[in-house]
Amino acid sequence: MNEEADISIKPTDLRGILKYVPQFRNHIFVIALDGSIVADENFPNVITDIAVLRSLNIKIVLVHGIGYQLRWLSEERSVEVSDLYGSGTTDEKTLKLATEACAVVNHKMGEALTHASIRYATTNAVRASDVGILRGIDYGASGKVDKLDLDLFNTLLEKDITPLLTPIVFDRDGRSLRVNSDQLAAEVAVQLRASKLIYLTPFEGLIIDGNAVQNIPVEELRTLIESKKSSIDPRLLSKARFAIHALDEDVPRAHILDGRVFGGLLTEIFDKVGLGTMIHANEYQRIRPARKKDVQAIYNITRTGARTDALRPKTRQAIETAIGDFFVYEIDDSIIGCAAIKAFANSETMELGSVYVHNFYEGKGVGRKMVEYAIIEAKKRQAKKLIALSTQAYDFFTRSCGFAEGSLNDLPAIRQQDYVANGRHSRILIKQLS
Ligand SMILES: CC(C)(COP(=O)(O)OP(=O)(O)OC[C@H]1O[C@@H](n2cnc3c(N)ncnc32)[C@H](O)[C@@H]1OP(=O)(O)O)[C@@H](O)C(=O)NCCC(=O)NCCS
Repeated sequence: MNEEADISIKPTDLRGILKYVPQFRNHIFVIALDGSIVADENFPNVITDIAVLRSLNIKIVLVHGIGYQLRWLSEERSVEVSDLYGSGTTDEKTLKLATEACAVVNHKMGEALTHASIRYATTNAVRASDVGILRGIDYGASGKVDKLDLDLFNTLLEKDITPLLTPIVFDRDGRSLRVNSDQLAAEVAVQLRASKLIYLTPFEGLIIDGNAVQNIPVEELRTLIESKKSSIDPRLLSKARFAIHALDEDVPRAHILDGRVFGGLLTEIFDKVGLGTMIHANEYQRIRPARKKDVQAIYNITRTGARTDALRPKTRQAIETAIGDFFVYEIDDSIIGCAAIKAFANSETMELGSVYVHNFYEGKGVGRKMVEYAIIEAKKRQAKKLIALSTQAYDFFTRSCGFAEGSLNDLPAIRQQDYVANGRHSRILIKQLS
């Protein structure tokens, strides 16, 4: 299989992708590329991905780092630098090399953007101020973001010009300061009210205890940093911290991605259970009660389940009538799973049914989260027992969701009659809630 064929956006997902076109139109994504990604052989493909996003009318702000190039220059010139990544002190010789590294990276970015016909501008739309002396340490020429010229940003973005920001930023007197590019990207994302902050790194994602996590709620990440900082790969700590800052300031999502993977950027954006790590607000915010306008989407996904006999076929009408029982799992406005909990008159038992996860998203923990949500909801409604009838997902309910084998007697009388009449011989599973 060639590399192109391996890309994980399938033609069958085109409808799903097209859905995002109006959704992201005129939204701002801030994309920060580590210096090592600009030096990577996949870099031209990253720029092609960015050109695709631009063609969908997504407004892009680019930020680049220089750590990799600075290290290279420091070794080549045998100059010891005071800090590689702009988060420590910056002495004069480091600033000089950093300015040189910055010119090299900026030039390479310019070449690639021009090749991809992306109009861009390197500007002084960001102003820095020096970090100064902190706890007795003089940070020299290290700076932090002071102010954004929003008018200049907006003028460029309105004219479809991509701002390209470098980690050497001027202060109000025109003095050069070295700013950490992770911080720069996060601050810009916050102030431009970006929809996404995306870090392109030479890592598979955010590495926690040695493994890249697919997605993590911001509160979980914050707790981890406060209580067990050592579990996060130290090379990603700054990105994790600035991602938290961005989310705290209402940027909805931050992503930490592997910029060395072909098509990775598009895969992450259009296939959310995709490639790197997504840091998001709150897990259960993705599950919500269904609304009338969801009927068609629920019908579409449950119909596939009915074809394999995993679910009982339901008409659109039946779904619409029972829409109040349904809840859906949504990823960026796209429904990828559903389930329903049904009450019975004069009974403390509720039934969990129509649990279905779009096959493209199976095995990512979505099903289990929906069952957890159903349990919370059933408890809120004072149910003492939750039942599920399953023909094909018996192990899912018992092993992964803590249900136990039940019998006909566990069903409310009216459900017993239906069970006997429909002849599906589903396994009866129960979960005690009190
Ligand atoms: C069953 C279903 C809802 C599970 O959703 P999912 O998002 O893929 O499941 P999760 O990722 O949350 O999986 C949790 C665990 O259950 C296991 N699992 C998932 N589907 C399973 C199945 N059909 N049988 C047995 N185990 C299953 C997973 O391997 C995982 O185990 P692990 O924690 O040891 O890795 C989904 O596969 C589906 O929609 N199936 C078709 C419809 C269906 O059968 N619905 C149930 C009838 S009500």
